[in-house]
Amino acid sequence: MAPDPLALEIAKNPHGPLFLAIAEAITRDILRGRLKPGSRLPGTRALARELGVHRNTVDAAYQELTTQGWLKAEPARGTFVAQDLPDEMTPPVTIPAPVEPAIVRPPLAFTDGAPDPKLLPDKALARAFRRALLSPAFRTGVDYGDARGTPVLRHALSSYLASDRGVVADPARLLITRGSQMALFLAAKAAVKPGQAIAVEEPGYPLAWEAFRAAGASVQGVSVDAGGLSVAALEEAIASDPRIAAVYVTPHHQYPTTVTMGAARRLQLLELVERHGITLIEDDYDHEYRFEGRPVLPLAARAPADLPLIYVGSLSKLLSPGIRLGYAMATEPLLSGMAAARAAIDRQGDAPLEAALADLIRDGDLGRHARKARRIYRVRRDVLAAALTERLGKRIAFDTPAGGLALWLGCGEASADVWAERAGKAGLALLPATRFTLGRAAPQALRLGYAALDEAQIVHAVEILARSLPR
Ligand SMILES: Cc1ncc(COP(=O)(O)O)c(C=O)c1O
Repeated sequence: MAPDPLALEIAKNPHGPLFLAIAEAITRDILRGRLKPGSRLPGTRALARELGVHRNTVDAAYQELTTQGWLKAEPARGTFVAQDLPDEMTPPVTIPAPVEPAIVRPPLAFTDGAPDPKLLPDKALARAFRRALLSPAFRTGVDYGDARGTPVLRHALSSYLASDRGVVADPARLLITRGSQMALFLAAKAAVKPGQAIAVEEPGYPLAWEAFRAAGASVQGVSVDAGGLSVAALEEAIASDPRIAAVYVTPHHQYPTTVTMGAARRLQLLELVERHGITLIEDDYDHEYRFEGRPVLPLAARAPADLPLIYVGSLSKLLSPGIRLGYAMATEPLLSGMAAARAAIDRQGDAPLEAALADLIRDGDLGRHARKARRIYRVRRDVLAAALTERLGKRIAFDTPAGGLALWLGCGEASADVWAERAGKAGLALLPATRFTLGRAAPQALRLGYAALDEAQIVHAVEILARSLPR
């Protein structure tokens, strides 16, 4: 009888050669007792196929272990775990399990809007990071610096924001953070006193709610319609809840519904915020991704200079969520409050990473990358829209988003939760609207973040979606 697949856990980026990582994984399983003395291992061809590696690599691993005495090759019969294991066998507890199981195929997923990691301009970033580390400026400035972030990046970002989106930000009013998540936490710390509340879009972005709560604020959901946050509902919420001291919005592409707030509503919102003297927190997390039509400038580009405003941006959609870089622009005294809160928890950011990003902005690499990513994601969006129409037709409803990395899919008669559960069992992860609500009834809808999937994967994912549509 053929042995079962081994299902080895192999370090994702092994430090040494791959065959040694495979050999280590096998020894670990012998020590753990998963592979018993005398048990037969799969043939090299079968294991190579299972692991997605070349057969010679598995052959080298088996040979290494045979030489060390862990395995025994029996001509014409196969390879077996040795009956007498090597003397230097260490107890299992001292063998650390690999942190990252690697050769595990991730399930297909419509994310909440993650970018494609394969597009990261890694070489340009690596070169810029190396330059930053080796620069004399870094060597003389390795001491603690400004809690607001490296001056070169604040200057570069100031020009970028002005030319890219009409946001005029003095570098002194910019704060670099480790991702916009930190900026949202600091925004709440600076804008809201304990016991006060922040009005948030519902459905909305749960991680922002977590950041606000962690900063001591409570959150109050305000409904969203086809034009984004309902300003009329916000007015009512403020009238009935005097604790509301700030409002958090995602006007470029409302999270999760993707709708863009129109010009008239933007003016209403700015007027309301000014009239009530509350702070406006604008999360412009995916500004780079507008595929057609005229660019839509942030509220921060239109707001009166003295409006209490915190504008938050992120590099997560443009570079990668794993590269922790975000920023905030704020009026005083909000900016100072945020910088002081940042210094208390993190002192300052990552100087070489910040200098590297400044380099990418100044050299134009970031702008070129944005243009390339925009082209690719636009095609993917169109492939998704076409596949949905073809496979699901009238049973769904959606507006093709003018930008952003996700599509909001109305589920028609179907329950979004049931659909997500059925698709999950068929190998496709989905995010139903219930994941984005605070308490009010969620619409029957799914957020389909498509950008990390290539065109073939999108078509395949839509196939699964169609097959798992609840009857
Ligand atoms: C609404 C919203 N804001 C901000 C972010 C970015 O977060 P960060 O910069 O912390 O990675 C995301 C990422 O998913 C988001 O969806």
